[in-house]
Amino acid sequence: MNEKTLTLRYSSSNNTDKLRVTDAGLLKKAREAAEKAYAPYSAFRVGAAVRLSNGEIVIGSNQENAAYPSGLCAERVALFAASSMYPDSVIEAVAVTIDTDDRRVIEPVSPCGACRQVLAEYEHRQKKKIRVIFSGETGKTIVVDGMENLLPLTFTAANLK
Ligand code: THU
Repeated sequence: MNEKTLTLRYSSSNNTDKLRVTDAGLLKKAREAAEKAYAPYSAFRVGAAVRLSNGEIVIGSNQENAAYPSGLCAERVALFAASSMYPDSVIEAVAVTIDTDDRRVIEPVSPCGACRQVLAEYEHRQKKKIRVIFSGETGKTIVVDGMENLLPLTFTAANLK
């Protein structure tokens, strides 16, 4: 066996003023989306905003359900809506953030494994990298360019051939 090492690249900042204007704008939309989440069970309101090559921004928030697994994460709500409405547009970037009642989430909300898989699917489909911006309730923000930095050794359509 040959042991190999993978390098994941990301940028991190404690100050949203240091973000690119377009990233900061998308994060603001995600914050607005988080306020509209339906999260009565976790009170962990996640918001996502997807920026498309046609200039549209599509938002989503987590939608929970009394039958817990029937709910869906904010990222997938936004991505599926964006792909349904604008299937020919390239997904350029996705911003994710959170809104809670009683805690102050400092660590950026990192997309879960299932959402990463969905992001990787769209990246594979469009053959263009997706930029992912994620933040907590305060200034700390992580920016990743391309899903190879969030989900290496990905299972894609290529594996089905
Ligand atoms: N959640 C998201 O919306 N996105 C993530 O990436 C992580 C988790 C939601 C699912 C559930 O409604 C709540 O956060 C607590 O897990």
